[in-house]
Amino acid sequence: METSSSEKEKHLAAMKAVTYIKNGQVIGLGTGSTADYAIREIGKLVQKGLQIKAIPTSKKTQELAESLDIPIIDSNSVDYIDITIDGADEFNEDMVLIKGGGGALLREKIVASMTRKQIIVADSSKQVAKLGLAFKLPIEVIPFASNYVMNQVRGLGGTCDIRHQSGKIFVTEQGNWILDANFGHIKDPQSLSHSLNKISGLVCHGLFIDLADIVIIGRGNEEETIA
Ligand code: 5RP
Repeated sequence: METSSSEKEKHLAAMKAVTYIKNGQVIGLGTGSTADYAIREIGKLVQKGLQIKAIPTSKKTQELAESLDIPIIDSNSVDYIDITIDGADEFNEDMVLIKGGGGALLREKIVASMTRKQIIVADSSKQVAKLGLAFKLPIEVIPFASNYVMNQVRGLGGTCDIRHQSGKIFVTEQGNWILDANFGHIKDPQSLSHSLNKISGLVCHGLFIDLADIVIIGRGNEEETIA
């Protein structure tokens, strides 16, 4: 249901993204409201006879796909994924993304890494000149390590809070916690990513670098593609 201009932009981007899908392909299904538009469009194509197999990045996405009769397969049953359509919380002109607003960043990053053509769909508000100012960087941590990881993040110049939902700590589908880290403007995403990846107990962070092949942005009544 479209209730605002940003919803319309998400839908426009999603409709364009599904035009890349070909019969017989394995498709990664992202998580979030923009990815949901694409999944509904894929569902319509499946009803019309498109034959694909899909790998969802979250339980919510799997439930939506199953409700639309999109065939689901196990991620371990394939060596690669042809196309994934996923959303983003922020992206810049170099197609560096911040993801994880929905807490599905770990599976999203695994699926993106397995994917040959990663298509990011977004409304125009997600495009930023400076990463990290409008949206904090999600970091998935093993609960046992959360205080240690928070101290290490402080050492890298960030502050962070453990994500809560409905008054309780948010627990990911893998049983981990999310830290939402504020580094201010992330000027050097590669360097920050490298430093974060070295922290024990940090499972995954939401900086997606060199993982997006195409970004489709809904803008007003049109969509625009960066590749
Ligand atoms: C979930 C994500 C989403 O792709 C991101 O939060 C964007 O969501 P939306 O399309 O609802 O704005 O990374 O972990």
